[in-house]
Amino acid sequence: MPQTLTDQFGRRIEYVRLSVTDQCDLRCFYCMPKGFRDFEEPTHWLSFDEIERVIRAFAELGVERVRLTGGEPLVRKDLPQLAARLAALPGIEDLSLSSNATRMGKHAKALKDAGVTRINVSLDTLQPERFRQITGGKLEKVLAGLMAAKAAGFHPIKINMVVMKGVNDDEVEDMVAFCIEHDFTLRFIETMPVGDTGREASAQYVDLQDVKARLAERFELIPGVMPGGGPARYVRVAGTDLRIGFITPISQHFCETCNRVRLSVDGTLYMCLGQEHRFELRPLLRAGIDDDGLREAIARAIDLKPERHEFREKPGQVIRFMSMTGG
Ligand code: GTP
Ligand code: 5AD
Ligand code: SF4
Repeated sequence: MPQTLTDQFGRRIEYVRLSVTDQCDLRCFYCMPKGFRDFEEPTHWLSFDEIERVIRAFAELGVERVRLTGGEPLVRKDLPQLAARLAALPGIEDLSLSSNATRMGKHAKALKDAGVTRINVSLDTLQPERFRQITGGKLEKVLAGLMAAKAAGFHPIKINMVVMKGVNDDEVEDMVAFCIEHDFTLRFIETMPVGDTGREASAQYVDLQDVKARLAERFELIPGVMPGGGPARYVRVAGTDLRIGFITPISQHFCETCNRVRLSVDGTLYMCLGQEHRFELRPLLRAGIDDDGLREAIARAIDLKPERHEFREKPGQVIRFMSMTGG
């Protein structure tokens, strides 16, 4: 039985992105269609016991990082209880959360007490009317959630901004100022053609190399680093504490350093964000597989991990919406 997980391309897998629900209280147009209702059946949701078992097996196979995602993870009832159970697992060093922050005002303190160490928050605009157009929701709720997360002691807090031409690309500098003011880390993301909605939004794709060049005209950007397990490449803005991360799946992909797999709410392991390769764990769990068998199944699943996405070559490839795996 292996002690660690290594895929066919020699990449060590040490990061699991765990989607605890495919539902969301917002409708970012690039992520999920308006009116979408075809959510996973509750009987198919992994229970907290099942999730804990799977993450324990991953931890025994050397996984150290877990990120809670959705949909919107805080839509899942009692999430802080699950977080506490996962944080307590031997080997799990880094438990983080990606959220839209609408419910953070209510849950920030409980998440912190549960052992969540870091949070990332999606925020594409600072303009209320634009926020409503992009997400269908209220900006003030998200800003209140962000402030509650800060007051609860989360640090760092990373802001994720999907930059889109004619949608919010005029707000890059405003977002820099906002993140300097509040001591947030800022990450720009290139739109990925995941699902019909992501594909349509890719028409407004912005190459982040251009955004970086634009910022370099105004600020001195120094190569920087940031704690985290994801694909962002960072710079620091001279004279400030601000770090800016660039997540560039299209202009400069990072698959050769990929360290992660995704577990969806129905117990499917997705091997790559940009491919359909998958392995179903739920049937095995519900048929009573033992712990050795579970670890073996996971190790076998990792052999299915493809070398890279093909967002450029085959933009029609990923049918599922981003909300199913939480990015
Ligand atoms: P850190 O641990 O803080 O570095 O987290 P992260 O950047 O991995 O997580 P987050 O959920 O904030 O993701 C930010 C963006 O990166 C989202 O748009 C994700 O879809 C994207 N992303 C994360 N992992 C991958 C990946 O393996 N492949 C691709 N193409 N995009 C990814
Ligand atoms: N392309 C790029 N990023 C996306 N996200 C959701 N859909 C897409 C897409 N099609 C981002 C969200 C969130 C992160 C987890 O994934 O904005 O910040
Ligand atoms: Fe890894 Fe696939 Fe993401 Fe590339 S697109 S970094 S291979 S999950």
